[in-house]
Amino acid sequence: MMVYLDNNATTPLDPQVVEKMTWFIREHFGNPSSLYPIGRQVKELITEAREQVASAIGAHRSEIIFTGSGTESDNFAIIGVLEARPEKRQFITSAIEHPAVLETAKYLERKGYTVHYVPVDRYGVIDLNYLESVLSDETGLVSIMLANNEIGTVQPVEEVVRMASRYGVPVHTDAVQAFGKTEVNVKKLGVDLLTVSSHKIYGPKGVGALYIKKGTPVLPFIHGGHQEFGLRAGTENTIGIVGFGEAAKILQERWKKDKERLEKLGERLKSGLEEKIPGIVFNGHPEKRIKSTVNFAFPGLEAEAILMALATREIYVSTGSACSEESEEASHVLLAIGLKPEVARSAIRMSLGRFNREEDVETVLKELPEIIEKLRKISPFKNGI
Ligand SMILES: Cc1ncc(COP(=O)(O)O)c(C=O)c1O
Repeated sequence: MMVYLDNNATTPLDPQVVEKMTWFIREHFGNPSSLYPIGRQVKELITEAREQVASAIGAHRSEIIFTGSGTESDNFAIIGVLEARPEKRQFITSAIEHPAVLETAKYLERKGYTVHYVPVDRYGVIDLNYLESVLSDETGLVSIMLANNEIGTVQPVEEVVRMASRYGVPVHTDAVQAFGKTEVNVKKLGVDLLTVSSHKIYGPKGVGALYIKKGTPVLPFIHGGHQEFGLRAGTENTIGIVGFGEAAKILQERWKKDKERLEKLGERLKSGLEEKIPGIVFNGHPEKRIKSTVNFAFPGLEAEAILMALATREIYVSTGSACSEESEEASHVLLAIGLKPEVARSAIRMSLGRFNREEDVETVLKELPEIIEKLRKISPFKNGI
């Protein structure tokens, strides 16, 4: 039996989502912009999905823009807000953001913007004093993620909002990894913009959403027709959007229960591995963390070797984040929390999801210690370091 422990990379579709999408594909092909009934029906279903996503994050449906991914939502939020107020030439983000934000920051630097990267402590929590020291009237936007995809650390976003508001600076948060795993409520957080993505919440891939608080100055991101309130043109990904809406509806009904169960499983996985494997190094905040995400380094070993050995036993995990899987470089997140590159390159991330059971954790607790012991025997750096 396959053990899938890479739910931060993507999640399997919830069967109820599959059902809804299948029904939709069969029954509806109309263009939501068409004025006759088969178009209008699809428009209504998109509105329903917009309402479902909005409701899951405490927003109004007029504040939700559907996009092609979490990545697009991040790009849209940052570029859209900064371009709306071109006199503000400074952008602030953190050192441990997803590449969707960090690469956008680099793009801005090439365009002449000043970007400040707020450092983090050894648990991955941002340095609020640093943030305060770089905030100014020149700042156009602050973008700080809610939960980190690699180590699960949750950031004090409400505090970020309080600080930024003293300068009238809008705040965006990438909540892709927090959505469904902890409370995500735009009113409580106080943010102006917030990113979510469907395929991390048991919905289809290739669809995301951006919350834009009413009144936030933002320029259109894709130019063309009037879709998505004129901010993101192009005929809608109707199938994806309907699936995303259903996934958000299910999430709202059950995230608290899922959270409780998965946190327990995560803690069992963490303490079990710590008990059975001497010398492993836990990465992330012990408390302020999405506890279903567990990240460990195995100094002296290469993460790829561990990943491949697990994969031969049909246990699927990740090294660092999926997006850096193809590069040899150590994870920027693990380097930012102070790990040496060779230790960072030995890190494995396991992320639990709705369809994991206790047996999955027990399987890992049985298989991984054996694998590590074997690999250590053949490693040139016996027992690490
Ligand atoms: C924190 C975070 N932001 C953004 C993304 C990108 O989302 P998408 O895969 O929908 O582009 C991911 C995906 O891994 C993520 O973990």
